[in-house]
Amino acid sequence: MSDTLPQSPDQALPAELAVLPLRNTVVLPLTIQPLAVNRPQSTEAVNRALTADRMILLVLQRGDDDPPTEADLRRVATVGVIRQMAKGQAGLQVLVEGLARVQVTAFAQADGHLRASITPAPEPTYPSLEIEAYIRQLRELTDRALSLATGIPSDLRPLLASIDDPLRLCYVLASMLDMKAEDKQLLLEEDDLLVKVRAVTQSLNREVELLALKGKIESEAQQEMSDQQRQYYLRQQLKKIREELGETEGEETQELRRRIDEAKLPDHVAPTIGREIDRLERMPPASPDYQMIRTYIDWVLDVPWSVTTEDRLDPVEARRVLDEDHYDLEKVKERIVEYLAVRKLKGDLKGPILCFVGPPGVGKTSLGQSIARAMNRKFVRMSLGGVRDEAEIRGHRRTYIGSLPGRIIQALRTAGSANPVLMLDEIDKVAVGFQGDPAAALLEVLDPAQNNSFRDHYLEVPFDLSRVLFITTANQLGPVHPALLDRMEVIPLGGYTEGEKVHIARRYLIPRQLQEHGLHEGSVEITEPALRRIIAEYTREAGVRNLERQIGTIARKIAARIAGVRPPVEEAATDGGTTSSHTPLSMVTEARERIEARVAGETAQPPAPGQADTSSTSLPERWTVDRDEVPRYLGPPRIRSETAFRTSRPGVATGVAWTDAGGDVLFVEATLLPGGKGDLVLTGQLGDVMQESARAALSHVRASVAMLGIAENLLRTHDIHVHVPAGATPKDGPSAGVTMATAMVSAATNITVRDDVAMTGEITLSGLVLPIGGIREKALAAKRHGIKTVILPELNRQDLDELPAEARDEMTFVPVATFEDVLKAAMPAPSKGSGVRGQGSAGVKGQQGSDM
Ligand SMILES: Nc1ncnc2c1ncn2[C@@H]1O[C@H](COP(=O)(O)OP(=O)(O)OP(=O)(O)O)[C@@H](O)[C@H]1O
Ligand SMILES: [Mg+2]
Repeated sequence: MSDTLPQSPDQALPAELAVLPLRNTVVLPLTIQPLAVNRPQSTEAVNRALTADRMILLVLQRGDDDPPTEADLRRVATVGVIRQMAKGQAGLQVLVEGLARVQVTAFAQADGHLRASITPAPEPTYPSLEIEAYIRQLRELTDRALSLATGIPSDLRPLLASIDDPLRLCYVLASMLDMKAEDKQLLLEEDDLLVKVRAVTQSLNREVELLALKGKIESEAQQEMSDQQRQYYLRQQLKKIREELGETEGEETQELRRRIDEAKLPDHVAPTIGREIDRLERMPPASPDYQMIRTYIDWVLDVPWSVTTEDRLDPVEARRVLDEDHYDLEKVKERIVEYLAVRKLKGDLKGPILCFVGPPGVGKTSLGQSIARAMNRKFVRMSLGGVRDEAEIRGHRRTYIGSLPGRIIQALRTAGSANPVLMLDEIDKVAVGFQGDPAAALLEVLDPAQNNSFRDHYLEVPFDLSRVLFITTANQLGPVHPALLDRMEVIPLGGYTEGEKVHIARRYLIPRQLQEHGLHEGSVEITEPALRRIIAEYTREAGVRNLERQIGTIARKIAARIAGVRPPVEEAATDGGTTSSHTPLSMVTEARERIEARVAGETAQPPAPGQADTSSTSLPERWTVDRDEVPRYLGPPRIRSETAFRTSRPGVATGVAWTDAGGDVLFVEATLLPGGKGDLVLTGQLGDVMQESARAALSHVRASVAMLGIAENLLRTHDIHVHVPAGATPKDGPSAGVTMATAMVSAATNITVRDDVAMTGEITLSGLVLPIGGIREKALAAKRHGIKTVILPELNRQDLDELPAEARDEMTFVPVATFEDVLKAAMPAPSKGSGVRGQGSAGVKGQQGSDM
């Protein structure tokens, strides 16, 4: 039948046709489309067409009206030919093929159906590069769409590929796309081919994107499925393996519950942990929360909630232990013994919070250890140096990734008991950070009223710290938070005198070092003069840490000799002070020399370890280290007194200062700069207080030039520069006032200061000398530097009582009330001039009276 149809529509289009109004669809020319026809007018139109040449006008109708009004019908439409028709229950099924676009000139009602007069509306196609490009794009998109879409008839691809005509391709694709009827109508009405092609490309593009997205969603869903299946599969396997091993599923949590029972958790902790274990049980082990909860439970179980050690409350025994470990330190030992005695009488005594203050190496840390030993408690130490964050003390909340308990709880876990001696070292070095003040957390830790329910952020459940014996240490009290200081019982530990050091070395350090190096007690003797030399020339410290180190070096070298190992390089530098390197060659020559010496009968005796002697038979039973042999073990002396050298010129005065490390001497230099006008220049990292003190000193000196024997105009025509050397260490405090004034006077009068005198004291504008602190440490430091006379404020006179007898015996202390008195003791009288100064005051020998 189809071959009777006109192939070229232009030629054979009738002037008027039966109309088939279409709701919701547009049949485009050059496409084929099935339609369902059931309205009476439409059915009549189809019948009419079938009886004629099968042609029918396919018109889009706006709205649903039946029959449609003329205004509802569009004026641009498609002439179609009915290819097939079937009658069904719901009406007619027709297959129409669009032939050409026409323009409707008029509609008219006739015999139960609608008719229209039409004129052709041909669609010009013209070649254009742009259209060509779009067509290519359309073909690519078609390919992508076909490869993405599923369930497409296999012959569609070649069919589409065979369409050459751009217009036809446009219409065919548009008819296949899910386009709105209104859009299809616009496409039909459009005259410009380029616009049509562009519109179809856009629609197809959108379609491709939708298809791709759909594919992605589908494959994701599939992936999820297979992951779940995999997990399920693995878990089934695991279950099988466990069954094989005879384990039941809740093994891990059962084990945890058992540990809870064992840990005897306090009532407020057990339920919390129980809940966590419940959570754990309901969780797949692979989930990230699982490990987190697991770690938390382990932590809680490791904290010694109810593990305590039993205290030894025997004061006599405790005292014996304390004496065994430390020399002197009477006050602390007494305090501990008292505490134990009272505890014995009255069961629950809150432990004191002790704070040991003193220079490095005086035994603060080791005393804490000893106290723990005396009481039979565990000992843990945590350093607070540089702690700047509250969380370091108290932990991070569990919501932080990788969070842990704070140091207090960690220390307790290390101790393994809830009542250890917990030493908080360097409490003066706690830094104030920006993330909460650690001091605030420490306040809670050290407050007996609250620390029975200390809350660590990580643990969340409170821990009772009241059973802990806290001991803190500091080098100085100045930087310690006042509120913290208030909670603690401060026990000062001062530096040691030379005599005390000798004693400590003999009784404690030497035996300990010998033992540590595997040497028998009594196998090595370091004579007292040797010890004094080590103290004076190899260490210059308030405590005994370096002394112990030096003794350790001697012990090590002796042990190495006994074991037959050649002594290390530095030892070869004996009295001569030259270092010989141990090249194999020099070893050979040395050995030869030794053998030759033996053959010649010159046996070296006693063989000192510096001179290597490999025959162990000739090693002595007992090694004695005397004063002269010290350099053989320790190398040339490291420290020489520099006081005499430094004060050999005018303008330098020796002061004594109180530092972190105990006491120290410092040299103040002053010099006059010609061409000035009396200004003051200060250098050497001086703090504000020290600078003000320097100004006061200068003002006093300038006001008293006549009395001090300084030329009238000198300080008006010169600037004065005051410098305090010694590296970049910041210095502060008023106690160098008299020293600075003395240096100025020395510079102005050109008279040197006595080289064995050191001084300390604050100066006022009127030249009075005011009291200062730290006399004991300053006196010991002066002594370590070989100073014979110490000038100090009159108002510090009573402090002299507290000085060790040794210092009082060997040094002269000159208490002064005015700056004039300082000069009398520190500088000889001027060679010419009014003779205001002189050696008038003889000074006071410490041992002369008990009133010191
Ligand atoms: N009176 C003493 N008797 C016996 N040994 C002592 C005495 N004083 C200190 N020592 C020993 O000196 C060494 C150093 O002491 P320790 O480490 O306790 O010093 P410290 O005061 O804690 O110093 P730092 O302030 O630097 O921490 C230790 O081996 C200690 O045993
Ligand atoms: Mg210490």
